[in-house]
Order: sequence, then structure tokens, then C-alpha cells
Amino acid sequence: MIASRTGLSRKEAKAAISAGKVTVGGEILRNSELKVDENDEIFLECKKINGKSHIYIVLHKPKGYVSATEDPQQKTVLELVPPELFRNGLFPAGRLDKDTTGLMIITDDGDFAHRILAPRKHVSKKYAVTIDLPVTSAMEKGFAEGIELNDGVCKSALLEKTGENTCFVTLSEGRYHQIKRMFGCFGAKVTELHRLAIGGFTLPGDLPEGKCRELTDEEVALIEKAR
Ligand code: URA
Repeated sequence: MIASRTGLSRKEAKAAISAGKVTVGGEILRNSELKVDENDEIFLECKKINGKSHIYIVLHKPKGYVSATEDPQQKTVLELVPPELFRNGLFPAGRLDKDTTGLMIITDDGDFAHRILAPRKHVSKKYAVTIDLPVTSAMEKGFAEGIELNDGVCKSALLEKTGENTCFVTLSEGRYHQIKRMFGCFGAKVTELHRLAIGGFTLPGDLPEGKCRELTDEEVALIEKAR
């Protein structure tokens, strides 16, 4: 159970038990064969590891990682989750392209992922975008009216110009390569794409690229707050 909840191997889990790092019901566990159930409170180095509760992790995604749980050739975002946060069943809640950076949520809570990804839930995703052409008011208007892509018309999106070639784009849906394809309709190529926020939660400024941390309950609630 420790191995499946923590990402430690069975051998490492046994070593943690022998080293007195695991407690069950407040007592240091010495017998790695002890049968436990969900009602037992189990801690590994002061961190609770059992119970039905889900985990919610924020990752500052760097370039070069694919948003998948496994891939035969490429590095996946799950490889960036440190052992102390790792558990079976984790997956990225929503995809970012391999070359996109920024806010990514990794969880084992499928219902939560559905709530933040389903277009009708209107949880917004805000991106900082750089393109190879000047940002125009025609783009702003087109995004607001709904760009027609080959898989249908997009929902209205907010484009806020921040510089000659840069802007913020806020979407309430997440189609494959959506922002790249939307700018493609204007003959523009996206050269940098970075997700800043999901719902009311912004990528923490002190979380370095490639690093993860667990979200607080308040932060999880902010994600579902449409903005
Ligand atoms: N739109 C894209 O084109 N790519 C992303 O990674 C996210 C949104």
C-alpha cells in the first residue's frame, strides 16, 4: 500500500518501515506484513498517505514534456512529479503541447478533471502568447466572435494585446492545438505559448519551471471558480 501511494518501490517501502519512518494509528510500524485498511491513519515521515482523499498537484511545465501518463519515446509530465507526491492513478488534467509551458494540474481525481475541462463548465484558461506577426484588432474581433476551425466554431475568446507581437488569450474550452490553429486562421504562427491561469488560480510566481507542489484546499477551490 505504501509503494502504490508514494511511488517508492516495495523494497524502498520496506526500508522506510525498517527505518521507523512509517506510523499506523500513531504507532511506529515495525512489521511490514501488517494488514491495514482505509480507516487506519498511515503516515510516512509525517505525511498522511492513506484514505480516500485525492491529490492535486500544480506543475510549472517546461518545454519538451508531453502531457501523457506514459510514452514510449518522449518524456512525460508525470516524470516531473517527485516520489513524495507520486501515487498510482495520477494523470494530467488537460493537455498542453510539448512546446507549451506553464500551469498544469496533475491529479488522480477524474471527476475534478472533468469539471475543469468540460466546455459547458466554463472554467477559463488564460495564456500568454507570442506570435510572429503584429497582433491586430481583426484578431481580437475574430476571437471574440468565434473562430471557425475545421472541427467547428470556437466559443468566444478574449484577446488582450500586451505588446506588438504579444497578447493574453482566455479560452473556455480546450481543443487540440486550439490557440495555434486560431492564430493560423490569420496567417500567424505562435512562437511562445505559456498557460498563466485556470479559473481563478494563477501559476504561483515562486514555482520554478519543472517543479511541482501540492495544492492547498483553497487553491483547488479557486481552480473551479470561473473567471
Ligand atoms: N492551445 C495550443 O495551441 N496549445 C496548447 O498547448 C494550449 C492551447
